[in-house]
Amino acid sequence: MMASVDIRFSTRIYRARLAGARAVTLNEELARSCLSIATDDAAGQAWCAENHYNGYTSYASLNDLPWRFPDFADLAKLLDRHVAAFARELDLDLGSKSLTLDDIWINILPPGGVHTSHIHPHSAISGTYYVAIPKGASAIKFEDPRLGFMMAAPPRKKNAAPDNRSFVYIAPQERTVLLWESWLRHEVPVNESDSDRISISFNYGWR
Ligand SMILES: [Fe+2]
Repeated sequence: MMASVDIRFSTRIYRARLAGARAVTLNEELARSCLSIATDDAAGQAWCAENHYNGYTSYASLNDLPWRFPDFADLAKLLDRHVAAFARELDLDLGSKSLTLDDIWINILPPGGVHTSHIHPHSAISGTYYVAIPKGASAIKFEDPRLGFMMAAPPRKKNAAPDNRSFVYIAPQERTVLLWESWLRHEVPVNESDSDRISISFNYGWR
C-alpha cells in the first residue's frame, strides 16, 4: 500500500543569531542600556509593582527607545531586515503597506520570575532579541494555535516529532532573534537561573 501524508497549515518560528564583532559589541551596549534604563525608569518600576510584574519591563513606560538610545536604533535596523526575511518566508502579501516597528521594550526577568501565556494583539509579527541568557534561564514556550479546537483529541506522545507537539520550547542563546506571527500564544516559564534573564521584545504592525 502506498500512502503519503501532507503537512499543511504549518506554523513558522524564525531564528537567527547575530554574529560578528559588531554584534558582540552591540549586545554589550544593549545589556548596559537595559540595566541602566531599568534603574532610572521610576514610572516603569511603579507600573511593575502595581501590576505584580516580577522583574522589570519598559512596556508601559517607554515607547521611544530607538529614538533615545543609538544602540536600540541599531538593533531596530537589524530587526527590520530579519522581519522582511520572515515575511518572505511566510509568503505574506503586504500589498502597498509594510511591516513597521510599532513597539520595542525591555524585559528583565529575575530568578524565579515568569511571564504568563499571552499573544500580542494589534500586531502582525512579534519577536524577541535575547541579550543575557544565563545558565538555567527559561526557554520560551510556544503553544499549538489549534489547541483550543482539540477538544476530544488524544494527547501527543512525549517523544512526538517536533511538528506534532502541542508545545514547543526554544532555549535561545544570547544575540538570538526569534520571530513569530503575533497571534501565536507563548509564555516564559520560571527562570531557574540565579541571575537576570534580559531580553528585548517588539511588535511590527502592517500599515
Ligand atoms: Fe510575548
